[in-house]
Amino acid sequence: QKWLWVDSDAGVDDAVALCAALKLQKEWGYRCKGISTSFGNTSAENVNVNVRKVMASCVKDGAGECPIHAGAVGGLKGETADASYFHGKDGLGDAGLEDPVEMALDERGAVEGLIGVGEEAKREGAELVVVTIGPLTNLAQAMMEGGGGGWMGGVERLVVMGGCGNAHGNATRVAEFNVKADVTAAAHVFEHWRGQMTVVSWDLCCGNPIPWRAFHEAVSKEHHEGEVGRFLKAICRDIYSSEKDADKRSGEGAVICDFLAVACAIDRAVVRGREMVNVEVETGGGITEGMTVVDWGCYDGVEGREKSVEWVKELDMEKAIEMLGATVRGG
Ligand code: BDR
Ligand code: CA
Repeated sequence: QKWLWVDSDAGVDDAVALCAALKLQKEWGYRCKGISTSFGNTSAENVNVNVRKVMASCVKDGAGECPIHAGAVGGLKGETADASYFHGKDGLGDAGLEDPVEMALDERGAVEGLIGVGEEAKREGAELVVVTIGPLTNLAQAMMEGGGGGWMGGVERLVVMGGCGNAHGNATRVAEFNVKADVTAAAHVFEHWRGQMTVVSWDLCCGNPIPWRAFHEAVSKEHHEGEVGRFLKAICRDIYSSEKDADKRSGEGAVICDFLAVACAIDRAVVRGREMVNVEVETGGGITEGMTVVDWGCYDGVEGREKSVEWVKELDMEKAIEMLGATVRGG
């Protein structure tokens, strides 16, 4: 049995990713066991509401529900973050959608949830993939607190949306948002995660936009038969549109990082090209804080450190686009 766990700071591209995680369960043959939330694109409080909104729309389309675990309200050193300039004041494109208050959060928090699902997967022999699409705070905390870290042995693969391999950052000149939001947490994960780890980086996502035509056919078209289609169209309206082209980095299409990471987590075939590398996170306070320093040196790498990270170099975008289509299809 295949299980998925998503840690998110929803976020518009997170919402697309979460819809995929919930909607594709039957067709792709896995179970979404839980979603944990964190601060990031907007406040933790907004994120909890946003994930509820996502869940409600997916359930209306017939998707199986999963528990939502509230997590970090700030970084390990009390950092805060904000990306309302992109994701809107509410973090979900300010689309004014109703909060389904009846959808309660799980009584266990994110850290407890993560540790619990790792242990359960180990017991049950399930193939669990954990994918993080926000700051790495919850994961790092679970790694630090989880009774010797045995729970990590239950995780078949960790997929991280974060970092950049070419020093073209989005949070700073050289740092990517999810890493920069909590550099201590990110450094801990890159240094201490001992299982399989796949990175879907900012530069990879910028190089793989969903072409506007495909995006329109899936998300921004006039009529949707399903609730998720209508939901995504509403939240994406002001952010991903060929006319407004809010993401000036790519005129060719919509850069939806978190969706691509979740697509890789659900279906390994989306990862078409990869390179094993060593990655360290700069935690110093200078202008390079939050930089993911990748050792691209050939053979053993420049520093000869362990190449423990699978850095994704190429995606099967046809497959990813097919998954986006299946996500919005009516239930
Ligand atoms: C990442 O930062 C956030 O703005 C997105 O949701 C994505 O997770 C991209 O750098
Ligand atoms: Ca995110």
